[in-house]
Amino acid sequence: MARPAARFVCQQCGAVHPKWAGRCEDCGAWNSLVEESGGEAPPKGLGPGKGRRIELVGLSGPGEEAPRRVVGIGEFDRVAGGGLVPGSALLVGGDPGIGKSTLLLQVAARLAATGPVIYISGEEAVEQVRMRARRLDVAAAPVALAAATSVRDIVASLDQGEAPAMVVIDSIQTMYLDTLDSAPGTVAQVRSSAQELIRLAKRRGFALVLVGHVTKEGTIAGPRVLEHMVDTVLYFEGERGHQFRILRAVKNRFGPTDEIGVFEMTDRGLAEVTNPSALFLADRQGDVSGAAVFAGMEGTRPVLVEIQALVAPSAPGTPRRAVVGWDGGRLSMILAVLEARAGVALGANDIYLNVAGGLRIQEPAADLAVAAALISASTGEALPAATVVFGEIGLSGEVRAVSQTEQRLKEASKLGFERALMPPLRGRRPARTELSQTEIGTAADLVALFDTRPASRRSPPDRQ
Ligand code: TYD
Ligand code: MG
Repeated sequence: MARPAARFVCQQCGAVHPKWAGRCEDCGAWNSLVEESGGEAPPKGLGPGKGRRIELVGLSGPGEEAPRRVVGIGEFDRVAGGGLVPGSALLVGGDPGIGKSTLLLQVAARLAATGPVIYISGEEAVEQVRMRARRLDVAAAPVALAAATSVRDIVASLDQGEAPAMVVIDSIQTMYLDTLDSAPGTVAQVRSSAQELIRLAKRRGFALVLVGHVTKEGTIAGPRVLEHMVDTVLYFEGERGHQFRILRAVKNRFGPTDEIGVFEMTDRGLAEVTNPSALFLADRQGDVSGAAVFAGMEGTRPVLVEIQALVAPSAPGTPRRAVVGWDGGRLSMILAVLEARAGVALGANDIYLNVAGGLRIQEPAADLAVAAALISASTGEALPAATVVFGEIGLSGEVRAVSQTEQRLKEASKLGFERALMPPLRGRRPARTELSQTEIGTAADLVALFDTRPASRRSPPDRQ
């Protein structure tokens, strides 16, 4: 019998290659190709058998939308789009050790008060999960727990008796189907296992939550190969060394994708942070140079964060750029605009930019705050006290309006800020707020707020 042709599957993106290579041509990952047998049979065409006629229906019709299962942990429910949808599949991805098992055990315990919940751990023994439950003070919750990794056994068990409300599989990389030769954690196993579980969830109408580790090494299939199979993808992120954890929706068939949930890892599990601005600004040191408070929006919620910049003379050679929590390309753009449109040339310096607290900002509205932090860092002059900044900067140096001005200002006012540097109103009605609103029309207007002469050429302060 002819040996089936070898196929090499990228464990990062799932692309199939006929030959092994050190680097996946599709996604560029190194060392990620693994030989997998079995899998898809070569296409044969439809053959002679007759298909069944499918019924076509209109866009509207009877059939009530199943009510969502509200977990009762607000930060989780909001990111999931208002609760779990019965029959849907949700993937929670994140680095090992970030707190996925902790979060989902807390979610499971909460939901168990309203319906049957099953937690299947493929990574930890029953006693380990019980220990965590005691630590989280949820050991009394009626969660049904098992340690298992065989998808055949899991499907057989879940297919009997009363249908659960939610099933947690922790993690999908430990699950395996005995019909495949490849090892657990390979793309083939992860995909097929997920497919079986998702099919069961749809049939029995429970919410399926899959935990997936993000891996860098490429030896174990990352959650990316699952993203198109599930309805919702949430990533759990955080900086190691910071206690904040951010749950972010990157795909959601049943809700918005720009929401974040903020948690704090305590010694008794994850605590919800309902006022993230206060938390992100907690360590702020008054009026120092190189810092600007950005009035941002994360989904429906305003969040204030401090943007910190450091501008230092560069050693000969290529100047260093290090950006944490923001886009490096966008930083280059702001530097170019400041130089070309406002005459502030920082390009030859080493530049470090940091979003304090471990948050990652994606809004272009942060441009003006980044520019303010940069200028302040290079002049050594702090921004006016109690000031928030927001606005997008265009390539010609103009400051452009951003959405939800009123909400940003309200949040700033609530936290004791007194002034906002913001895009010009250009005929729009000013927001109703106590904050004094300073309109910044261009990058040059922003620079004019600072004394941009080098410190050595400034006149010494008057002395009497
Ligand atoms: P865990 O949920 O096991 O992470 P993951 O499932 O994503 O791999 O959480 C691991 C970390 O969280 C671990 O370093 C210990 C810490 N932790 C706390 O700080 N407090 C707690 O109450 C718990 C349960 C864990
Ligand atoms: Mg875990």
